[in-house]
Amino acid sequence: MKSCSAISLSGGQGKTTTIFFTALLLAKSGKKVLAIDADPQANLTFYLDHEVQPNEPSLMEVLNKQVSVEDGIYETKYPNLYLIPADRGLFKVSEFLSSSGAGAFILKQRLRQVKDIFDFALIDVQPSRSQICSTAAGASQYVIIPTEANVKGVNSLVETMSFLSEQAELEAFGGKVLGVVPFRDRWVGNNQTTEGRQNIEAMQELAQGAPILPSIRESEQFKKAIRSGQLLSEIGYPDLQYPFEKIVEALTHGR
Ligand SMILES: Nc1ncnc2c1ncn2[C@@H]1O[C@H](COP(=O)(O)OP(=O)(O)O)[C@@H](O)[C@H]1O
Ligand SMILES: [Mg+2]
Repeated sequence: MKSCSAISLSGGQGKTTTIFFTALLLAKSGKKVLAIDADPQANLTFYLDHEVQPNEPSLMEVLNKQVSVEDGIYETKYPNLYLIPADRGLFKVSEFLSSSGAGAFILKQRLRQVKDIFDFALIDVQPSRSQICSTAAGASQYVIIPTEANVKGVNSLVETMSFLSEQAELEAFGGKVLGVVPFRDRWVGNNQTTEGRQNIEAMQELAQGAPILPSIRESEQFKKAIRSGQLLSEIGYPDLQYPFEKIVEALTHGR
């Protein structure tokens, strides 16, 4: 099983969008995918049409070991795509993770139980320097950093790179940054806007050698595809799907 997180320490950077389409694309190509919602906002859980019921285990119970990992995994309406869901209560797990003394390693350790069942684990991560974020990074062989193509995004990239360096120094993160994915890149017809281009150039300088992957273009079609539960190619926009195809390619060939 290969594991990959989307981490970017601000909201609205494209993390959930990236995990959703990458997971769907992999699942539709026949790979067995475990999507993990590690954000108390629970947008990924919502996108995958799941709602955590009061008596049902979610990522929280998986992390604090109230249940086995298998008991926290649910089918989705998509073949091959499974989910460990989250709800608002997930923030409470931070206390458990910090008191355990080895919080950064807990998700990694829990996922070991299902490593022979899934081809990929894709984790949508809370945008803050939290124990949840550390444990997600700790469980990840790869990290994707979605970054909005504007000033806020560039700041988020700086924060995220510094967080990952800190975690690496503590030996809590031993993975690799697969790449930075510029998000909501604005194009007019066939031309990238100057602002978009300049922001992506700024990202290049701040990415510490990590590749800048093809950007996710600003478009209403992403929401439409999510709402209808389809790939962008399936609703007639194969070009917009290109960044996720590149992520799949990088994940598949990465060692
Ligand atoms: N290509 C796009 N262009 C414009 N808006 C988008 C695009 N893709 C997603 N969105 C919207 O942008 C918002 C932020 O994206 P999201 O993936 O939820 O970010 P994050 O998970 O980092 O907070 C969401 O409301 C989403 O519907
Ligand atoms: Mg999100």
